[in-house]
Amino acid sequence: MAEQTKNHSSLRTVDWKDNKVVMIDQTKLPKELVFVEFSDYRQVANSIKTLVVRGAPAIGVSAAFGLALAALQSKATTKDELLKDLETARKILFETRPTAINLKWGLDKIMQVAKQGTDVNQIKELIINTAKKMAEEDIKINMMMGKNGSELVNDNDTIMTHCNAGALATVAYGTALGVIRAANDSGKKIKVIATETRPVQQGSRLTAFELKYDGIDVSLIPDTAVGYTMAKGLVNKIVVGADRILRTGHVFNKIGTYQVALIAKQHKIPFYVAAPLSTFDLKSNPEDVIIEQRNGREVTGLGDKKTAPEGINVINPAFDMTPPELISGIITEKGIAKTPYNESIKKLFEAN
Ligand code: MRU
Repeated sequence: MAEQTKNHSSLRTVDWKDNKVVMIDQTKLPKELVFVEFSDYRQVANSIKTLVVRGAPAIGVSAAFGLALAALQSKATTKDELLKDLETARKILFETRPTAINLKWGLDKIMQVAKQGTDVNQIKELIINTAKKMAEEDIKINMMMGKNGSELVNDNDTIMTHCNAGALATVAYGTALGVIRAANDSGKKIKVIATETRPVQQGSRLTAFELKYDGIDVSLIPDTAVGYTMAKGLVNKIVVGADRILRTGHVFNKIGTYQVALIAKQHKIPFYVAAPLSTFDLKSNPEDVIIEQRNGREVTGLGDKKTAPEGINVINPAFDMTPPELISGIITEKGIAKTPYNESIKKLFEAN
């Protein structure tokens, strides 16, 4: 049995309890902290699609738990029948969101374990235990990453972050916000500037909420104030998360990350990315990565209020790509990769 890992963030985004998946419903934040329970893998798929759970590592672990539910739901009496049911569920879960590579990582890991089992009951147990272990490891990895990254942070730094790469984007603790938590826990005085992250507001709804919840000093800015705050000398460092990192050091993350990195370069402010090895895709080239295009309604209004004229054309990509020349370092649980990234990333994996 995987034991629950202690960490210094109070929010647990996704969990397995009494053969059910329990999640914080992030669509309700920050108004309400509500937990939802699922016993059908299709509900998990839907929750990933509708952003009840989001953030690359949280999506990966949720998908693994989704397959654990699919195993429990299966009426199969042979290994082959069970693998067939799991494959149907894997496909449905995989098709939810295209950019975060952790989704594939989580599903592949469970399918691999399932194939190694012998009989139906043993495979079901193996899958559940593996998914639970993946959740606990996610927290440990975030804490290791946080420790590595906190060495880059100085006392009295003000760190800008974009989107939400926090406890709410992982099982707990966070990647970029894990670095901030670790620096804070080590006694450094840290302030955070969170971009609101239009159009889905992960910065104002989630990052501002979770840092405030944990008592970390945070100020919210509109995305359009990134240049202003950097030009005014109000930011010492930037740390963001990632949905996918290529072997070349190209980073795919929430739309707007590229702009933040460009402005940081102009003002000579170090721009760091924090992500676990499960976020790396060593096979794809930049042009292979599918950028999720989301509903235009996210852009034509603010909440329920419509702001744009009826029938307007919208371009609404959910992610963009930041090239390696804008990145000062990639913080992982195994150390910090620096340019030339193809060499330093290769070394991280060799050490793994
Ligand atoms: O659309 P989202 O909210 O899933 O996008 C999340 C991000 O872009 C995060 O920065 C990324 O997944 C890293 S989370 C540790």
